[in-house]
Amino acid sequence: MRVLAFAAAALLAATSLATPGRAERPIAFASAAPAAGTLVLPLSSASDLGRAPLDPATRTAVERALASAEFDYAPRSTLSLRGLGTFARILIIGTGTEALTTSGLQELGAIAARETATDNGPVALVPPSGTAGAQAVADMAVGARLGSYTFTRYKSDQAASPAPAGRSAAFSIITPDTAAAQGAWSRAEALAQGVVLARNLITEPANVIYPETFVERVRESFRGLRNVTVEALDVPQMERLGMGAILSVGQGSPRPPRMLIVHYRGAAGQPIALAGKGITFDSGGLSLKPGTGMWRMKGDMAGAASVVGAVRALAGAQAPVNVVAIAALAENMPDGGATRPGDVVRATNGKTIEVLNTDAEGRMVLADGVAYAERTFRPAAIVDVATLTGAKVTALGDEYAGLFSRNDALAQQLTAAGESTGEHLWRLPLHPSYARTMRSDIADLRNVAEGGGPGAGLGAHFIGAFVTDATPWAHLDIAGNEFGDNTALAPTGVSGFGVRLLDQFVRNFRPVPQPAAAPRQAAN
Ligand code: BES
Ligand code: MN
Ligand code: ZN
Repeated sequence: MRVLAFAAAALLAATSLATPGRAERPIAFASAAPAAGTLVLPLSSASDLGRAPLDPATRTAVERALASAEFDYAPRSTLSLRGLGTFARILIIGTGTEALTTSGLQELGAIAARETATDNGPVALVPPSGTAGAQAVADMAVGARLGSYTFTRYKSDQAASPAPAGRSAAFSIITPDTAAAQGAWSRAEALAQGVVLARNLITEPANVIYPETFVERVRESFRGLRNVTVEALDVPQMERLGMGAILSVGQGSPRPPRMLIVHYRGAAGQPIALAGKGITFDSGGLSLKPGTGMWRMKGDMAGAASVVGAVRALAGAQAPVNVVAIAALAENMPDGGATRPGDVVRATNGKTIEVLNTDAEGRMVLADGVAYAERTFRPAAIVDVATLTGAKVTALGDEYAGLFSRNDALAQQLTAAGESTGEHLWRLPLHPSYARTMRSDIADLRNVAEGGGPGAGLGAHFIGAFVTDATPWAHLDIAGNEFGDNTALAPTGVSGFGVRLLDQFVRNFRPVPQPAAAPRQAAN
């Protein structure tokens, strides 16, 4: 059985990464709109039509159409007009009257690209008034890329038939300074590539992406990028380092765990360490999960995908930062060698853990991940990212990720990055009493508290126990953020949450003072 299952996985994994049949429009910048194909006009009001590149007769016709349709100019409203003037189509998108933020511009680009994906010819987007500058135009381009995201690898029909050539004509954005826009886009395109890497890793099923193939995919994605090293610790290496926590999670699966380290050195000085939970499938282990919705646990590596995606974005843009992603990769399965509830293991920093529930596995792999990150890189800060708890989903849904930190300055920098990228964080407490709750009778810590309690905070506390008080540390619980509703920017529902936030956070990072003794010491 096992041999057969591996053969099937190998077959799937060997299929091409390319998606034939899908024509991705190249993104371009032009100083004037062509008078043919599709014209996309974002408008805040009827008078806004004045700046549109239309001849008088066509303008009058568009005016009449807008009035007759009682178009409301609200954000996301659209009106499609066919065959007016020399254009095959004029697509009106409402913008509302508020100034557009980065995420508003991205959403506009996404709607424009999505709505025109099957148009047969070039598409030109005329930026809303006041947004033709290089950065705003690049934001719209990022939106166009993310809004066009599809995942068709396993759609046999689309792989067989090539898309019509007209669908690969350019998507151009009109801007007076095309050179400046091209410059801003070369950095922004790397961001889109980081998000797409994360989305692909999350969407792939767990028979295709497991620790070893996650590592392979990441190596492929970083190939040729300067100032990058990719290294993966295998089981014997992790054994020598005493990483008993991640090893205990992986030992119930025939697919061995890995600790993946992607270091991008675009600047000197202490790096920022980003540690991601990389459970390529979370069955719960012997503390088995119920069947309904268990498939979603193929996305339990979203934390690892987001930290790797963020470093891909930064390295792709050759940003002047020093950042290292640590992806703690394991498959949580219940075979005969699996960890039993009640087992005691020792993490790489020497602390012992009583595993009372094998479904609390994310904190286990991250215990070794953050301890290794601190010891090896002496980072200026550690941020871990994890689909850690159902309790977080109950508290915050997918509108916010949960933020936990004992360092206010670090928490503020992360919150600000979330605000500006539209990936919002909501801070939750780390009360000193959690140290007592997570104490074990026979080991240093237990991995769950009996009888509930503040589950997301207790999980956060556990991970923080593997970072010393010397290093600023924050934890992002992104459970539920990995699979959201389909939106313009995330048309398949898989968001790649965290890549944009972390990219922004690392670029803007200012060293934070760390209080000499954190409150948890007092409670220990
Ligand atoms: N991967 C899950 C958490 C999760 C839940 C992610 C929903 C995404 C959506 C995690 O490993 C888990 O099983 N957590 C347990 C912890 C409990 C045993 C303390 C949970 O939340 O029930
Ligand atoms: Mn679990
Ligand atoms: Zn999990």
